[in-house]
Amino acid sequence: MLPGISSKTEKEQNQTIQNYYKFQSKIYDLTRWSFLFGRIGIVKQIPFDKKASINILEVGCGTGYNLKLLAKQFPNASITGLDVSKDMVDIAQKQTAQFGDRVNIVCGPYMKGSTAYKDKIDVILFSYSLTMINPQWSELLEQAKIDLKKGGVLALADFHNSNFSFFKKHMSNHHVRMDGHLLEALKNDHTYQTVFESVNPAYLGIWHYVMYIGKKQ
Ligand SMILES: C[S@@+](CC[C@H](N)C(=O)[O-])C[C@H]1O[C@@H](n2cnc3c(N)ncnc32)[C@H](O)[C@@H]1O
Repeated sequence: MLPGISSKTEKEQNQTIQNYYKFQSKIYDLTRWSFLFGRIGIVKQIPFDKKASINILEVGCGTGYNLKLLAKQFPNASITGLDVSKDMVDIAQKQTAQFGDRVNIVCGPYMKGSTAYKDKIDVILFSYSLTMINPQWSELLEQAKIDLKKGGVLALADFHNSNFSFFKKHMSNHHVRMDGHLLEALKNDHTYQTVFESVNPAYLGIWHYVMYIGKKQ
């Protein structure tokens, strides 16, 4: 467990994230292309027909980068982006305005116990959100199981781990936990049948990122 981020209540955690993105939202799209790897790849791997009329939820949609990819790849899909940071949501709304009401952005936390999306979603995407949600990431994965329809798909792209303690410390200062814990949890969860899984080096192996797709059985 990382000091400082493992014992937060949900309210404290959400506040930490909102504070963090007050400034980071302003430089997000200028900077993140250079290290949030796997985002384009994971959207391409989503195993639904391009013409399918599916419901997609991105948890922690940020500035809407993936929402745009999803809207282009699935022109008949109804897409919801949920994010706890108003600063990020404001940008996402502008970035996705071109898609009209096919893309709906909601400002608020994804939370255990919600019934808003129960059994309604075909695809839930977590892209670089879960490693920041500590310690509640496992509760959110449980919630995703409730919200996904049978046969629905959980898609993940995120940091995986690093062998370099300086880098893990640097990332923990940005609220990111890198312990290989997401892939381990998903692979041990027999709710999902693995459709795609890949762990890849970034910057000659300073860290690894993970891509995973599982189908709810
Ligand atoms: C690193 S950004 C990723 C944004 C986007 N998914 C991407 O790939 O560029 C993480 C996002 O998750 C959001 N977030 C963190 N905790 C959340 C929660 N409990 N519910 C919804 N969004 C959350 C943050 O506000 C932030 O916008």
